[in-house]
Amino acid sequence: MTSAIQAHGLAKRFGETAALTSVDLEVEAGTVLGLLGPNGAGKTTAVRILATLLRPDAGQAFIHGHDVTKSPDRVREIIGLTGQFAAVDDSLTGVENLLFLARLLGKSRADSRSTALDLLGRFGLSDAADRTAKTYSGGMRRRLDLAACLVGEPQVIFLDEPTTGLDPNARDQLWEIIRGEVRRGVTVLLTTQYLEEADQLANDIVVVNQGSVVAQGTPETLKREVGRPTLQVRPVDAAQVERVAALVTEVIGEHTHDGRVVKARVQDTAALSAVVRRLDDAGIEVAELSVREPSLDEVFKQLTVTGAAV
Ligand SMILES: Nc1ncnc2c1ncn2[C@@H]1O[C@H](COP(=O)(O)OP(=O)(O)OP(=O)(O)O)[C@@H](O)[C@H]1O
Ligand SMILES: [Mg+2]
Repeated sequence: MTSAIQAHGLAKRFGETAALTSVDLEVEAGTVLGLLGPNGAGKTTAVRILATLLRPDAGQAFIHGHDVTKSPDRVREIIGLTGQFAAVDDSLTGVENLLFLARLLGKSRADSRSTALDLLGRFGLSDAADRTAKTYSGGMRRRLDLAACLVGEPQVIFLDEPTTGLDPNARDQLWEIIRGEVRRGVTVLLTTQYLEEADQLANDIVVVNQGSVVAQGTPETLKREVGRPTLQVRPVDAAQVERVAALVTEVIGEHTHDGRVVKARVQDTAALSAVVRRLDDAGIEVAELSVREPSLDEVFKQLTVTGAAV
């Protein structure tokens, strides 16, 4: 595995606040890491350290092997960053914003122009290229912001809450653009509060809470390890609900029901066949019997509300 991002023991305090306490991260090149956490968890602080904007108090971080504190210039050559707050210049047009950045990065006039036009096209902004950015909608600004971050053809991009405040359509468009960059081989670290976003885009997820990593893994392993699946049984005859509930409790040890559907969180799947057998023996006909995997939302709440470590 080629690590695009590696961090060990990152720590950062702001006065009394421990924004990060010993965070480790590793992101394989060409993959997406979703950094999840509630407000104040330390996500932006981690991104700013990795993007050379902030020095850690302790620990080390490397971007494609370059130390972020010892070789920040080398790191800056290969990264792109879009902040939590979009950084486009309002008074410039879309194309001017990108041209300006390309020239700053030392590209020739002709190169800058073709880079700018290519990016505007890729991001569906060709028609708006000659309008000043202040006339752009929120979604258009985010796309321009992301385009700006790609002007230097970065190998690693940091996206700090890229879709906050976007409507579902604009969000889907941005997700598609991000997927496109990943297909081109770009490595992405994105922070988000939206579990669905991490589920959609990330190969791996790291959950931070109060400056520490509280869980990590693929979306699937997190759901499996942290959340338990829920068994749902709905008898054909609603009058049988109490009987079903009693039977489920005998096997699984717990149940809830709403007068129609009996639910229980299952520990191990062996319990399921036991429930099916018991229902059969009791001659209870069921209209629905299903096992629902926990949503990433439930996993996230469980981890960040209780602060439980796994
Ligand atoms: N420049 C700063 N000065 C003082 N405290 C700071 C500074 N930057 C961050 N903090 C504090 O560090 C902690 C982590 O902040 P950070 O911005 O990294 O959180 P976050 O996970 O990005 O939150 P959000 O989801 O709200 O963006 C918070 O308690 C915050 O108040
Ligand atoms: Mg933040």
